Amino acid sequence: MATHDVESKLEGEVYYPAAHIREQATIQDYDSLYQRSIQSPQEFWAERAEELEWFGKWEKVLDDSNPPFYKWFVGGQVNIVHNALDRHVKTWRKNKLALIWEGEPGDSRTFSYHALNREVCKFANVLRSMGVKKGDIVTIYLPRIPEQVIAMLACAKIGAAHSVVYGGFSVEALAERIEDAQSRVLITADGGWLRGKIVPLKETADEAMARQPTIETCIVVKRTGQEIYMEAGRDYWFHDLMALPIANQPCCTEPVDAEDPLFILYTSGTTGRPKGVVHTHGGYMVYVYTTLKYVFDLRDEDRWWCAADPGWITGHSYIVYGPLLLGATSFMYEGAPNYPYPNRWWRMIEAYGITVLYTAPTAIRGLMRYGDAWPNRHDLSSLRLLGSVGEPINPEAWRWYYTVIGKERCPIMDTWWQTETGGFLISPLPITPLKPGSATKPLFGIEADVVDEQGKPVPAGEEGYLVIKKPWPGMMRTILKDPERYKEQYWGKFGNMYQTGDSARKDKDGYFWIIGRMDDVIKVSGYRLGTAEVESALVSHPAVAEAAAIGLPHEIKGNAIYTYVILKAGVEKSEKLAEELRNHVAHEIGPIARPEQVTFVDSLPKTRSGKIMRRVLKARALGLPEGDVTTLEE
Ligand code: WT7
Repeated sequence: MATHDVESKLEGEVYYPAAHIREQATIQDYDSLYQRSIQSPQEFWAERAEELEWFGKWEKVLDDSNPPFYKWFVGGQVNIVHNALDRHVKTWRKNKLALIWEGEPGDSRTFSYHALNREVCKFANVLRSMGVKKGDIVTIYLPRIPEQVIAMLACAKIGAAHSVVYGGFSVEALAERIEDAQSRVLITADGGWLRGKIVPLKETADEAMARQPTIETCIVVKRTGQEIYMEAGRDYWFHDLMALPIANQPCCTEPVDAEDPLFILYTSGTTGRPKGVVHTHGGYMVYVYTTLKYVFDLRDEDRWWCAADPGWITGHSYIVYGPLLLGATSFMYEGAPNYPYPNRWWRMIEAYGITVLYTAPTAIRGLMRYGDAWPNRHDLSSLRLLGSVGEPINPEAWRWYYTVIGKERCPIMDTWWQTETGGFLISPLPITPLKPGSATKPLFGIEADVVDEQGKPVPAGEEGYLVIKKPWPGMMRTILKDPERYKEQYWGKFGNMYQTGDSARKDKDGYFWIIGRMDDVIKVSGYRLGTAEVESALVSHPAVAEAAAIGLPHEIKGNAIYTYVILKAGVEKSEKLAEELRNHVAHEIGPIARPEQVTFVDSLPKTRSGKIMRRVLKARALGLPEGDVTTLEE
């Protein structure tokens, strides 16, 4: 009763989790465990790490002798795949379903832990036989099919790092990631299904390989079956390789150092080309395991559906690694949420008995627009928890998700985190009273705060920079080949605090409200894009002299990209050219980056040092005051 008295003093619109949810939760007391995790973080994380299996124990939990280059579980010998697969096939979970998959055309496949492990071993043997080893980075460019998961795990199993490029990215995005990673092996597919059409991945891969000739071997999964170009001596069918006798040999899991890289994942930053964020076997493993266990309370009887793409961090952490580390059953779906009808998702929840759904606000808003009748035709009573990620969820979408999908029975875990953080940092637990639009409180071991320009905490209710004051095991270790950029971008502003790039405020109850990016990153449908990438795609077109991109609010997408283009002398402005430029960006980066609008202008607002003032463009587009323009040159 005592706790409820405290809870009832919370300000604003508050939703209390039902008693049966609270009672079953792994964590019953947030406050005391949080205090302990902050007072003795190393002890807390060592206990979590001991829940998993290590080939050799660490000597030190945290090495903070050279900030911000922190190391976790120093000296530990491990392999995340040992804990995700090998550990389970020794137990009754061998015959438990690890993965249930449905393709967009309606085909489906399931894998027990035994079967998934077998496929991973086979493919690991194939990669090993090609000479792939520790220190290599394999680029994976696949649709949302089981081979995506198999390929990632096979790389990790043999100690190679993977770099997954989202299947919705296009030529230049893929080419520059291949180049940065210096990958010799690329894994792709003939195509993937999306809205009844084929996404021609191999065609894009061919164009990218022509631009970046580092690839010596390209492995192609047959998914869509149409005729494609196969280059002799370079391109091999996945199914042919998997049928080789070598694939069927026993396959051991390579012991690696806890700090060895598990994967590189490229993400957009403030300037220039995407950054290769580096995550490791040890700390990342402990972090995704712990966060998924505590936040979504996954149990053996659950059917977990993280509706993201494995090509983004959400998929890495919570489709592939997290659920497998917990021995859970995951569901994965290839295609569009509204194909062929807007009830696709709700039908699958009913058909597969999904118990936890984790998705993005943009998907919720997109499906909400079709009305309640579509979900109401289905029995969604298997659901017990819901989740949200990627951008702030607007209270209207929150209430719809809570009422129409969750039938007011399922608390919504609004998880705030980033590619760089590896896993959830600010999130409710199933016992947490919820406020629509707030990610609530920091998780264990996470010291989050909102500070001003000088790094001083701002009073409750005031907006400021969202920072994290202490390292945590799942944090990125560096930017591939650019440690200086890592130091400067994430630790440069405040020195001893991790700078998230987000603005936020904390209310009187200590709840965090994320406002949005403060830098030149645009979140389009929850996808992260940099203004610089869109601009550089535009200026790669022969008609364009200069370009600027900004994000403006959009009802479904959250933000949409608006661009301003100065044409080269002598080029005529036309509707047709504007359309061509939009398509050009989609061809270079991917359909998600296609600008909503291209506006031709004669000049752009710039500072005297020549930097485009996107803030001014944005204010003008929204009809708002332009703010401090003393540095404006124009
Ligand atoms: C940015 C990171 C991490 C998974 C997917 C995104 C925004 C993420 C939330 C949330 C408000 C959120 C932030 C963050 N964001 N989750 N629950 N509430 N904003 O990863 O692509 O690296 O983007 O997404 O702006 O900085 P990402």
